[in-house]
Amino acid sequence: MTVRVNGVRSVAVDVCALDTAGEFYSSVWNLDLVEAAGDARYFRGTGPHHHVLSLHPARRPAIRRIVFEAADRDAVAALYAQVRASGAQTEAPHEWTAPGGGFGFGFKDPEGRNLAVACGGATHSSASVPDRPHKIAHINLNAGEYDKTARFMSEALGFRLIDESARARFLHADCADHFSLAIVKAGNATLNHIAFEMIDLDSVMRGAGRMRDAGYPIEWGIGRHGPGDNVFAYFAGPEEIPLEYTSEVLQIDDRYVPRGPDYWKFPPGRSDQWGVTNPPTARLARIQQLFRFTDDGFRT
Ligand SMILES: [Fe+2]
Repeated sequence: MTVRVNGVRSVAVDVCALDTAGEFYSSVWNLDLVEAAGDARYFRGTGPHHHVLSLHPARRPAIRRIVFEAADRDAVAALYAQVRASGAQTEAPHEWTAPGGGFGFGFKDPEGRNLAVACGGATHSSASVPDRPHKIAHINLNAGEYDKTARFMSEALGFRLIDESARARFLHADCADHFSLAIVKAGNATLNHIAFEMIDLDSVMRGAGRMRDAGYPIEWGIGRHGPGDNVFAYFAGPEEIPLEYTSEVLQIDDRYVPRGPDYWKFPPGRSDQWGVTNPPTARLARIQQLFRFTDDGFRT
């Protein structure tokens, strides 16, 4: 039986202006700085993970690594075997010494993304707090090799295809969230966006207001998606990283019936369920193919 990851644990991002980005993520995006170690800064949400975002100084903005959560050491070992069996470049599971710790391994997927799987490490007591991101709800990744990447995520990490639109495959992890990862049909392996979960619609709305006040206009939204049924608001964050506030992500179990591209269509002119939002801005379309994965090693 294929062992499955539980969702996204954290994401590491390279930034050129570390102080400016750090100020944004704590005072506007409303994460909490939990640790500064060396040049890196670590930010937590209100969920249990030690951090959900780390920032690293670099010469150009990039995605450095995505870390998926595993249930325990046995799951890490099984996931390692699955990743190895796929032929991916990988390191052996080991104790992590970086802030937050944990036990896991890094690897490269078929399109060269730096990914990792980990369990354990430091945690916080989880709380439901208005206006503050709780966790990373999902990450959408553009894929040049769409079928190959989606197949890797299923076979190596245990994601299940839960819904499919004309442009994206929505992948369900071993948790109640409808999806934790989406693979988007594109010409390259770039970041489409990172979605941070708010506890309710009002927190998304007030977050969008806070972003507007700080000079970050809404690039798409407020709306409600089809697959996942989640509320969304998209922005260009520091150095134009594509960010989403989301809430009300559909919670599912084994009774959920997956649908295909014929079902997941909106009428002409619509890009969500409500029909209030304009379509995504040209800027959002541009920045949704801007962030590549750093060439740095995948090793943790
Ligand atoms: Fe999203």
